[in-house]
Amino acid sequence: MKKRGKYAILEKIYRKKNFCAKGGRSMKKVLFVDCCIRREASRSKELAEYFIQKLEETGAYEIERLCLMDENLSYFSDGFFLQREALLAEGKFDHPRFRYAHRFAAADKIVIAAPFWDLSFPALLKVYIENLCVDGITFHSDETGLHGLCKADHMVFLTARGGIYTDSPMEQGARYLEQMAAFFGIAKFDCVAAEGLDIGAWPVVELMEQAKEKAAEVAKAF
Ligand SMILES: Cc1cc2nc3c(=O)[nH]c(=O)nc-3n(C[C@H](O)[C@H](O)[C@H](O)COP(=O)(O)O)c2cc1C
Repeated sequence: MKKRGKYAILEKIYRKKNFCAKGGRSMKKVLFVDCCIRREASRSKELAEYFIQKLEETGAYEIERLCLMDENLSYFSDGFFLQREALLAEGKFDHPRFRYAHRFAAADKIVIAAPFWDLSFPALLKVYIENLCVDGITFHSDETGLHGLCKADHMVFLTARGGIYTDSPMEQGARYLEQMAAFFGIAKFDCVAAEGLDIGAWPVVELMEQAKEKAAEVAKAF
């Protein structure tokens, strides 16, 4: 093989794996966790897709999508809980059930999208988080306490709310996720919310535009 051809192939593989198309900058891996139950009808999804598009335009991010509605996630009960305890006691961290935790721990950035439901978010997202919390993968415990093990430095949560809840103590979704980010060792957290969508006092299109403006700002500083 000619030298040029050989290098061209190597470069292609290298770029595909880790590097941007131009300039050889390292691409950041973004894990996009989609819990927008209403899928294409969801305004949380519309907002999140806008945010992802802003990231893609920079050419600096590789987006890995995880659609929770397409996963067969189980909550902990009976055998499923006991299996986890047995695997952890044996140090079997390579078991397939821990794949969500490994993927989350390895990402450079985390994006989560979910609607505001019952003052927080859908139970499916909580089930996912339950599966993420693995001592030895996403966090570590010792006599000094709990320490996050995740690589990511920033988590962004995008959500659509029927009412207006920013700064209200009744809002328990973003609040909880911010603390979970800290628990996982993720230093920065931002929430972008489209609010008041079901009140009927303001045009939904305008409320969505305002939220998208904020999403674009957060994407710039991601
Ligand atoms: C099951 C369910 C629970 C909801 N709970 C709340 C709530 O507690 N407070 C609120 O302001 N809106 C609530 N809403 C309204 C949604 O937050 C609002 O319609 C939002 O746009 C839904 O996001 P989506 O378009 O991404 O599905 C709820 C909607 C559903 C379907």
